[in-house]
Amino acid sequence: MKFPPSLLDEIRARVPVSDIVGKRVKLQKRGREFVGLSPFNSEKTPSFTVNDQKGFYHCFSSGKHGDIFTFLIETEGLSFPEAVERLANVAGVEMPQRSVEAERQEKKRTGLLSVMELAQGFFSQALQLEQGAQARGYLLDRGLTTKTQQAYGLGFAPAGRYDLKQFLASEGVSQEEMVEAGLIIAGQDIAVSYDRFRNRIMFPISDIKGRVIAFGARAMSPDQPAKYLNSPETPLFHKGHILYNIARARKAAYEQGKVIAVEGYMDVIALGMAGYDNAVAPLGTALTEDQLRLLWRMAPEPILCFDGDKAGLKAAYRAIDLALPMLAPGQSICFAILPEGLDPDDLIRAQGRDAFEQILSEATPLIRMLWRREAESDAWDTPEQRALLERRLMASAGQIADQKVRRHYEADLANRLNKLWQPAAVNYRQNFRGGTRMFRPPGKSRGANFRPGLSDRPVGTRSQVSEALKKSQLARNQQGWQIAPREALLFVTIINHPNMLDEISDEFFSLEFSLPELDRLRSLILDVAASAQPLDKLGLKSQLLKQNYAPLLERLETALTHKSDRFVQPEALEDDAVVGWRQAAKLHLRAFSLRKELNAAELAFGQDSSEENFKRLTEIRSQLSSADGMEVQGDGVSS
Ligand code: UTP
Ligand code: MN
Repeated sequence: MKFPPSLLDEIRARVPVSDIVGKRVKLQKRGREFVGLSPFNSEKTPSFTVNDQKGFYHCFSSGKHGDIFTFLIETEGLSFPEAVERLANVAGVEMPQRSVEAERQEKKRTGLLSVMELAQGFFSQALQLEQGAQARGYLLDRGLTTKTQQAYGLGFAPAGRYDLKQFLASEGVSQEEMVEAGLIIAGQDIAVSYDRFRNRIMFPISDIKGRVIAFGARAMSPDQPAKYLNSPETPLFHKGHILYNIARARKAAYEQGKVIAVEGYMDVIALGMAGYDNAVAPLGTALTEDQLRLLWRMAPEPILCFDGDKAGLKAAYRAIDLALPMLAPGQSICFAILPEGLDPDDLIRAQGRDAFEQILSEATPLIRMLWRREAESDAWDTPEQRALLERRLMASAGQIADQKVRRHYEADLANRLNKLWQPAAVNYRQNFRGGTRMFRPPGKSRGANFRPGLSDRPVGTRSQVSEALKKSQLARNQQGWQIAPREALLFVTIINHPNMLDEISDEFFSLEFSLPELDRLRSLILDVAASAQPLDKLGLKSQLLKQNYAPLLERLETALTHKSDRFVQPEALEDDAVVGWRQAAKLHLRAFSLRKELNAAELAFGQDSSEENFKRLTEIRSQLSSADGMEVQGDGVSS
């Protein structure tokens, strides 16, 4: 049920807390308040107080605190909408109608989801019918048992032009919805719209909650124009933002702390059959930034599998450039390179699970892959060649936005260069304690004790800047463990309104947070949400408490300075919470990427205090203070 924002205030203003509480608890007036025996604990001396002016009750024995709505929720087990409805009656306030637009949007999405579910049912049934015989044979030939087919929801799209269309129409789905779901093809120059997927094996693609949002479809014979056809972009499906098998893999990855990315649907399923449920695949394109972020939400160091041929190596090298700017302390990728010409499905079928496990265990870290890309192709004999290699490597390291990681890359690469220049360096170092540093990364000689950092105020003179940067770095280090208010806002809103996860779980899943413990909390919340539906607030909270998250929840509450944001409160309307949450998530994303830019700009200024770098630093910092108001004040410096 949707209520306009003023409704709760109106009801609160009209109904004194003592009226509602008084029906259950015998209250006595004491000064401005009422007191009574706690309805939550049995007690002899009254510790339960009600304050009508402030509109709340407080129970000293149980620590419970709330208003008229929470009182009914806690003492009568009503849901929030039920409590609102009941109290609106008491108050004589009319319940509003839902907003037409909101209703339309919501209907559309859930409408499309149910269309996809119908289609999925149709395809998997068709696989069982006589018309699916060839498809079943194909799957069995490829080693997919009936059980596996069912586990992955595989299906068959019949060869006829209108089979699915007719079925959906008989279920009351409009042509417009079928088009919007990407299931039929229609257009001005097409007289009769027809099924997009015909005579193909169907692989349902689901969102992180396991709801079908698209299909991948494989032809069964090689003479077909496209081996795989995928759903087009629809309101439900944006192919660069999702990974095949993410719902199943997320759980498994969370348990194992490992996730594997492969290239194809069949690879994912082959891995699943071999006991690796933590495998995902992009959807027919090279890995995108968003997908890499998803992988990092699942595990700190995703393993990317590539074929050992030229194309595979090229794809791996491209992934390096994708990942470098996004690296963070503890957050990287590594590469499992398969024997030439084999994908994981082929490898497991030909050589078994152990062969694949072996490849995984030999996965190459990113730094080594980068080195391989730049250094292992040419000869580096002359000073000019060496300078070129050094420049290339440092340019790659320069792509890393995170200062700490970048510094370690520069040091590591410098080390490797030293070894490359001097084959005898190992012995040399053994003989002379401490060794020597032959190589300095560019820019490191200048401003050696310069410590770039973050500050909130527009920059003043050069020397003020350097001073400020130094101090703010200190401040930031000391406060590193603090939860940023906006991050707290994002979490507490969800904890208070777990049902909003139906709408925002994907966005929530793809956010970056500054503390690993928040990542873990997010995983747990999504797990609980995925397994318990519908989810009420107390259910989620008690699950979190059971898993010893009480201290973190407390820290989140304390970090919350945006008290003025009413949507975070449990009694706020869920629709308001969703709107407010999305707004906060947007600001959070923006601030996060600005911070990265700021880091880079600070480093640049530290190495070269040119007018240009100075201007850029000023510019980013002022953008950040407007995007990030409250949070930046926390770790800024005073002049
Ligand atoms: P591959 O050509 O490597 O196929 O494409 P595969 O995964 O090994 O499939 P099988 O074993 O031949 O059945 C890898 C992925 O690229 C996408 C699909 O997502 C596929 O899983 N792809 C491939 C397409 O989207 N369209 C195509 O025509 C081919
Ligand atoms: Mn294959």
